[in-house]
Amino acid sequence: MSKICILGLETTCDETAAAVVTRADDGSGAILANEVYSQIDEHARYGGVVPEIAARAHVEALDVLIRRALETAGVAFAELDGIAAAAGPGLIGGVMVGLTTAKAIALVHKKPLIAVNHLEAHALTARLTDNAPFPYMLLLVSGGHTQLIWVEDVGRYRRLATTIDDALGEAFDKTAKLLGLGFPGGPQVERAARGGDAARFTLPRPMLGRPEPHFSFSGLKTAVRQAAESLVPLSNADIADICASFQAAVVATVIDRVGAAIASCRHQGLDARRLVVAGGVAANGALRAGLDELCAARRLALIVPPAALCTDNGAMIAWAGAERLARGFSDPLDFAPRARWPLDPTALAAPGAGVKA
Ligand code: KG4
Ligand code: ZN
Repeated sequence: MSKICILGLETTCDETAAAVVTRADDGSGAILANEVYSQIDEHARYGGVVPEIAARAHVEALDVLIRRALETAGVAFAELDGIAAAAGPGLIGGVMVGLTTAKAIALVHKKPLIAVNHLEAHALTARLTDNAPFPYMLLLVSGGHTQLIWVEDVGRYRRLATTIDDALGEAFDKTAKLLGLGFPGGPQVERAARGGDAARFTLPRPMLGRPEPHFSFSGLKTAVRQAAESLVPLSNADIADICASFQAAVVATVIDRVGAAIASCRHQGLDARRLVVAGGVAANGALRAGLDELCAARRLALIVPPAALCTDNGAMIAWAGAERLARGFSDPLDFAPRARWPLDPTALAAPGAGVKA
């Protein structure tokens, strides 16, 4: 059995990452090295990712991470079958750093370049970690994206739903910022919510019950702000109660939206038997529990890759590169980085969507 071996680079947001992954003919994968440098500390005092700082930090960290990944994997450049880099969507300065580095390595070592869509990498991770067969439904919930995608095959995606305003991770981060909790906000909100009373505040559950499965979180964010402002100065108990109420609203909304997507797929004759979750928010325990319950009731298998592979990492880029190369796809060295790169270019804008959706 032959294997292909890919170096993957990720620089689209605030993680700089390099990984080496193999893919065997039977479709099974292995991670030989997965180096991630999180820039969280460099952005924390701004309460969010600063694009220029991110791009500079990628430049400084990437060479070291690539060297470390190859050393850990015990693989030389000459032994690689291809070089993959996330070519978008993302912060363009960072994307340029990773893609240009991958092009230089590919050119010097005469290897194919695979320009990977970062969203496709999230979408295919469950095939690396859990051998998930096609097709499946993907719930992608990160700081930048909130989408439901029908994953038919490598390169074949149908967007079922998106957010018309904020991404779910962004809603967690903004809630945390408002309450004076640290960045990134998701883990802080989840921690604070543990001791809180989820019934104390009645927060809106946007889009609930609508047949089309789109998301919206900006109304919820406004309601959280109003609840917080009405209580200033906030006690720790107030913060815990707001976080618990916010998280309960989020979970109820997401479960309802995923439920609507399952119904819509089944209605269209799509065989919805598996739900894969990806993105940083997949680490949230309350969301996981809600999805577990939903999938049991609707008879779907729930697949949640390990947290380190749900958040941004190099292994997912290398793996998507391997999946593409195995099908004969590679890209020219003049491939342009893309700030925007929808997985399903045929998807219509969601009704009421702002420019970010
Ligand atoms: O996928 P990711 O690492 O980066 C991208 O945005 O692409 O996702 C980061 C997001 C942040 O918004 C963070 O607050 C959120 O994931 N997050 C969580 C949790 N852990 C991370 N949100 C809710 N609960 C968590 N435990
Ligand atoms: Zn991501």
